[in-house]
Amino acid sequence: MALALGVLISGRGSNLLAILEAIQEGSLDAIVKVVASNKANAVGLERAKERGIQTMFMDPKPFAQESNPREAYDLAVGNMLREHGVECVVLAGYMRIVTPVLIRMFPWKMLNIHPSLLPAFPGLDAQRQALEWGVKVSGCSVHFVTEGVDEGPIICQKAVAIKEEDTVESLSARILEQEHQLYPQALQFMAQGRLQVEGRTVRVL
Ligand code: GRF
Repeated sequence: MALALGVLISGRGSNLLAILEAIQEGSLDAIVKVVASNKANAVGLERAKERGIQTMFMDPKPFAQESNPREAYDLAVGNMLREHGVECVVLAGYMRIVTPVLIRMFPWKMLNIHPSLLPAFPGLDAQRQALEWGVKVSGCSVHFVTEGVDEGPIICQKAVAIKEEDTVESLSARILEQEHQLYPQALQFMAQGRLQVEGRTVRVL
């Protein structure tokens, strides 16, 4: 049976589109049940809608009065995902720190993609961090989401060589091309039930 995905985005959603394309061409045995964003104007929401995918804008503002706004928001997001029958949550350019409340609703069923070879350069502006550090190789990582930011066990990675003339934009574009291959591949491993976590190590059976 196809793996039921819920994709969380905040921006343009190019990884989302790569996932949808992989599903369409048959290399990813999954179905996107819902695409949700914390930003009303996320371009990715429109791109999903055009492809007939259910979309949701989850506005964080109404949760501001709660005693713990982040957790209350994440509970609402988790409930919404469950109502849509989501089994696996895909963070794809989702610019919010996810609290344990949401992570625990989908244990070992939440993935993120990050534009560096983790554990190097976690957090924001990973491509800029890599250039400023002067590394010769960077890349992208797909990992399980655990309670530390960009810290979960790594499922797969792809390296990208850095050129002397690289700018943040040129490096980001080359990494993004690899992201579009890597994310559908990691999700297919998940769909096939081939991921086994042993401590920090993820085995692909
Ligand atoms: C990607 O670079 C991804 O690694 C990072 O956010 C960016 C999202 O891009 N987490 P897009 O919205 O999928 O185009």
